[in-house]
Parts: sequence; structure tokens; C-alpha cells
Amino acid sequence: MAAGSFRRSIASQLSKVLDLPPENLIKSISAVPFSKKRHVADFQLSIASVIENSSSDCLAQDLHLQAQQLAGRLKCDSVVSEISAGPGTVNFTINRELLAKTVLQQVWKDGSAYGAKSELFSAVPRQKAVIEFSSPNIAKKFHIGHLRSTIVGNFIANLKVALGHEVVRINYLGDWGMQFGLLGVGFQTFGNKEKLKSSPLQHLFEVYVQINKAAEDENTKKLAKDFFRKLEERDEQTLSIWKQFRDLSIEEYIQIYKRLGVHFDEYSGESFYQEKAQEVLKMLEDKGLLQKTIKGTGIVDLSEKKDLSTVSTVMRSDGTSLYITRDLAAAIDRMNKHSCDSMIYVTDKSQSNHFQHLFQILKLMGYDWAERCQHVSFGLVQGMKTRRGEVIFLEDVLNEVRSRMLQNMTSTKTTKEINDPVETAEKVGLAALIIQDFRGLLSSDYQFSWDRALQSRGDTGVFLQYTHARLHSLEQIHGNAELADVNVACLQEPDAISVLQHLLRYDEVLYRSSQDLQPKHIVSYLLTLSHLVAVAHRTLPVKGSAPEVSQARLMCHTQCVNVTSLSKIIFSTII
Ligand code: ARG
Repeated sequence: MAAGSFRRSIASQLSKVLDLPPENLIKSISAVPFSKKRHVADFQLSIASVIENSSSDCLAQDLHLQAQQLAGRLKCDSVVSEISAGPGTVNFTINRELLAKTVLQQVWKDGSAYGAKSELFSAVPRQKAVIEFSSPNIAKKFHIGHLRSTIVGNFIANLKVALGHEVVRINYLGDWGMQFGLLGVGFQTFGNKEKLKSSPLQHLFEVYVQINKAAEDENTKKLAKDFFRKLEERDEQTLSIWKQFRDLSIEEYIQIYKRLGVHFDEYSGESFYQEKAQEVLKMLEDKGLLQKTIKGTGIVDLSEKKDLSTVSTVMRSDGTSLYITRDLAAAIDRMNKHSCDSMIYVTDKSQSNHFQHLFQILKLMGYDWAERCQHVSFGLVQGMKTRRGEVIFLEDVLNEVRSRMLQNMTSTKTTKEINDPVETAEKVGLAALIIQDFRGLLSSDYQFSWDRALQSRGDTGVFLQYTHARLHSLEQIHGNAELADVNVACLQEPDAISVLQHLLRYDEVLYRSSQDLQPKHIVSYLLTLSHLVAVAHRTLPVKGSAPEVSQARLMCHTQCVNVTSLSKIIFSTII
């Protein structure tokens, strides 16, 4: 990695002066982020992190003094052309010719794996992660929380794969519970086999709404209870009706997820763990963890002092299992089946307690791997409505995105040059939706706005897709030059340097997102890159310049496509 060779070189000089091993110093040297006040230095060393007795509460002027003293003891060499001291940092500027050569060579060599191959990741062992996301409930609404879970989970899985890890993507469907009792009875009364086949999700939802209205009368309630009891008793005919609902729903989900560029390795819903949950209750009992309340429900004491101040209910008084019991069974089963290094659950923050309890119980049961389970939670989104009204199906959101984007494109008359405007509108619109969601911290709640998401100017997904498409076509038209034949050292203009400096930071940004699983670092990086590329396009024309200069500029522009193509990590659909 380009940045890596520079960091190593700086660290080796520092190591002699500070008498510290270079490996310890590399972590404290980072590429300087782009700022509006154009920066001169490329890397900076944070003094507080390397000098003994310099802690964060050390006085600012002391830090500055230490930085000045250290800078004074360092010398420029063939790699570093300038060294200066800032408030608490020593700044390094790389020899300009070397910067252009090294960065572009590395992007050229690594292609779209640029950044992911950095030595920042070499200390991270290749791991296997089970990631559970999306997880809607059959016959119920696919709400915005499920949409967020889908795109966040997909991002985490894509990122891990891009960094060389193994990933199992699981969709834990809500496919069990009393709702199927009602649905079974509802289908006998209101169901239509044709509609079930042609649009299962919509039809099952309609039936569910109808039967819920009818369920006020005692007779319907009783019939629904009977149907569910038969399901629990594994009555063949009842099971086959349920299975048909489930299979057809999954088929339709697969098609819709495809539009989002999302796929799953497993659809294993709550139903699968229904029986296994009984085994879990038995295990809890054997381990002395299951306690009965006066009402007959089963609980696990989670309090530190064992005074029942925090408990989790794992069994109903009739002995049947609950949501958490099925999750316990699912976690144990997943670990047995996949022997993974980590398990990630992606849902909104309203389920945070549930997952904390789940992990605590697993720990009490003696599963050390409970520490490697993680709940990635996100905030709530308000106000997403489609023309059909409240969002009920994922398909509605996708159709709305597509039609709104198509309308925007038609009104700006850009559709003329596009081969398949409908498909393009869908991809661009989805990117817009996802970027608007990923710009902030995942935990933040926000008010949804179609107009804000789909606007083409400013920091939007439309802008990212547009930049990528533009670079991609530039590459296709002119991108056949060999790097060795191009004199990239003539890229000396400030706008070219800004792009190169920004490319230097990519591995650090990927690393950050891989650590805290927040997409916002990569998103803001890509948006800045797109702005810098747009400026460079304007100020550094390819046409009309001297051949050597124009070739170098073209090389710089076209190599950026390797980085923008990594937007695929964020939204699988890229144009
Ligand atoms: N189906 C659940 C819901 O819609 C989400 C499932 C979350 N995952 C889990 N393992 N409990 O709320």
C-alpha cells in the first residue's frame, strides 16, 4: 500500500531518534484528512501518542514544544521533502514526484482491491462472521427498521468480504407464532390460491389484516388457537399450509432483495428453533439457571447480586418458548454449525435490551463465545411514506425510489443518453436512499425526506453514482495506457495533489469502518473524493494540454475509478 511505504519510511527515521521500534510508531502516523484550507503536509505524527509522559491532559503548549523539538531532530530525505511542527503534531510532506508515482502505481497494481490490501489489515487474522440482518416477519409490515437492517447488514457483510473475511448471511424470518394461527384460519375464509401464488407477501398481509378484524369474535379466536396448536404439534396438513405460505414468501423476498443487490446464504427463521427452544429450556434447567415464578413462568436471573433485580423471561406458564428462547437456540445452533469467530445481529435500538439479555444468558450457560456476539443497533427513522401511503412492503419503497428518480431524470433531460433509464433510475435512486441513511452515525434517529435523499447536488448518492459512471466511461474510452509509459511525476498542480493525498488515506478509512462498523467514514471519504475529482476534472483538462501532461492527468482521473467502484461495499448496486 502506497501510504504504507511512506508510513514505514517515516517510522524508521523516527525510530532512530526516539529509540522506539518502528512498528509501535506506524500506528501513530496518519494521512492528513482533506480540509477546505488546503493542507500542505501528507502525514502527521501525533505527539501525545508517542512521547512518554505526554498524555492528553498535557498542556497544549508543552505538546507544541515537544513537537518542535522532535521536528528539529528529524531530517528530510529522499522520501520526505519537508518536516514541520504543528499543535501536538509533527507534519511530513512527501516528495511530490514520489507521491504521484507511488500512489498511482499502487492503485494500478491493486485495482479495485486498493486499500483493502494495506498492511493495516495484515495484523487482523482472517475470520468468519455470521451476520444476521433484515429478518422481516411474514404477513406483517416490512417497516423502515427492516430496510435499515437490510442495508446496514449488507454493508457489514460486503465490507468484511472486501477485507478478505468469510461471511455467512442469515435472514432470521419471523415465521412462527400466533400470527400463523390467524393466518391459517384467515386463508380458509379470505384466501385466494391464485393471489397467493402471484403476490404472496401482499396477499398474506391482506388476509392477516382481514382476519385480525374478524378475530374479535370468540369463535375465530378459538379456531386460530387450534390451528396454531396443530402447527406446534406438527400436524402434517397444517404444516404443509404453513410451509406453502413460507416458501412462497421467501421466493418473493429473494426477488425483491435482488433489486437491492442483497442475498442471503440462509433463511432460517424462528420456526426452525421452535423445537430446539425446548432443548434450551432443558439445558437452562440442568444448569440450575431456570427459576419458576408464582405464576408459573420460567425466568433467568441476570442480576449481579442474584437478587432477581434483572430477570429475563424465557418460558410461558404453559411451558412454551418465547422470542428470546428461540434466539438462544438459534445462537447455539449457528455456532455449532458455522464455528464462527463472531456473530453479528443488526436491528434497531429498541431491541438492545433483548440482545444484551441474550448474550448474558449465553455467558451464564458457559458459552465463552457470547463475548464475540455483537448487536449492531441503529436509530429510528420517521416519516417514510410512499404514494400508496404508509410503507408496508419493501417493494413499495423500491418502486417509489425508481419512479421519483426517473421523474427527476426526465425533468433534467439526462435520460436521453442512458440505455436503460428505468434500471439506471432504480440504481441511482437506491444509492441515494442508502447514502442519506449512512451519512450520520447509525445510532442517530432522523426524519426521512424523499427530496433530500434524491437531490442530485451536494453530498448525495446520486453524486457518487454520477462520479463513478463518469470515471468509468472515461476509463473505457481512454484507459488503455500502460502506467509505465506515463510520466505521472508531472502531476504537480494543487488539485492533482489533493486527489493523490486523499487516495493516501483510503486504507485508514476502511480500517476505521471495519473497526466500528460505521459506514459514515467510507461514505464521507467517497463524497470528498467525488468533489476533489470533479474539481480536478475542471481545472486539469485532458484535452488541449501537452501530450505528457494530458496522459498523466488521464491516468490520475481513471485510476480513481478503482476507489469509487468500492462504493459497491455500501450499496451493492452500482451503475
Ligand atoms: N423479526 C424481528 C422483528 O421484526 C427481528 C429479528 C431480529 N433478530 C433476532 N435474532 N431476534 O422485530
